[in-house]
Amino acid sequence: MAEETADFLSAERAARERQQFFLDTPQVIGFAGQVATPGSFMTVTVMNIPVVVTRDEKNVLRAMINACGHRGARVAFGEGVGRRFTCRSHGWTYNARGELLARPKADCFDAPDERLQLTQLPVSDRGGLLVVGLDPAMPQQRVDEHLAEIEDELVGCGLESMRTLETRRFEVRANWKLVAALSYESYHFATLHRDTVAQWFAPNAVHDFFGKHSRWAFALLGTEQLAQKDRAEWPDTVPGAVSHALFPGTILITTPTDAQILRGEPGPTPDTSVVQMIGGYRDEAQLEQSRAGWALGIKAFEGEDLPAAEESQRGLAGGRDRLLIGRNEPVVQFWHQQWRNALKD
Ligand code: FES
Ligand SMILES: [Fe+2]
Repeated sequence: MAEETADFLSAERAARERQQFFLDTPQVIGFAGQVATPGSFMTVTVMNIPVVVTRDEKNVLRAMINACGHRGARVAFGEGVGRRFTCRSHGWTYNARGELLARPKADCFDAPDERLQLTQLPVSDRGGLLVVGLDPAMPQQRVDEHLAEIEDELVGCGLESMRTLETRRFEVRANWKLVAALSYESYHFATLHRDTVAQWFAPNAVHDFFGKHSRWAFALLGTEQLAQKDRAEWPDTVPGAVSHALFPGTILITTPTDAQILRGEPGPTPDTSVVQMIGGYRDEAQLEQSRAGWALGIKAFEGEDLPAAEESQRGLAGGRDRLLIGRNEPVVQFWHQQWRNALKD
């Protein structure tokens, strides 16, 4: 399969993707476990829009634009537990429902409190993930149904109990589709990841498609030795990693103990993108192991994958007329078809 270079350079295509895939499509932004208990909250910036997700005392999940009714400053920072959010600029205070509770010198403002609430966004927690619509007018049903086709597969991953290990943000000089495709194939393990990922994982992968989402999995090295054994002796499960890709460009990697979200989005120009990573862990007793896994993942992604995407972007911009996707890269093929068909619709 071949992809035209223009798909990675064209401002017109980038503008349509930005609107259709990111602003008008629900986005997976985190683990439901990040706001598991009443009073908990998390913040994230999606497509430059600051978002706060809260779970109030009555256990109701909410997402809001994290922008103060006075002059728009952020009112919530980081994540944790908090019933009140006080803006650092002039001290306006909101509750977990986004209602304005107090403001210094309130008598100097005519607008009533009700008009100054934080702007609500549609949000849902499905399959252990937080899904949000960036447009306040997006119907709740669209957010609820965004993961419907793959939800059953996510349920077994225990994402609802994930807590945040670490977060990272990368600004990349490559189109967001080139960055996403890094997480869709194992063809590059033996070369690009010779000293990292290839030391742990076998390059063979299996894949499945679920409507507009995909999943592929690769096993820990050593699993291939099962080929010498009789099928009847094979275990029901083998240790490895499962990589889900959720429309339009969020990658969810799960292992038996941990999970990571890599949410890619277009940057300000077609040849730039932003990737936000959330590392999740489940078990306090395995924290050291989880940290080691995260560090290995970052080393491979930041040191090996991202430079490769930037190389590709430079080559395409430099005059390479198209890029090729082999029969051994079925998940990459699937996604380029998906993106193209979705734009046509
Ligand atoms: S901007 Fe928040 S109180 Fe002024
Ligand atoms: Fe990679």
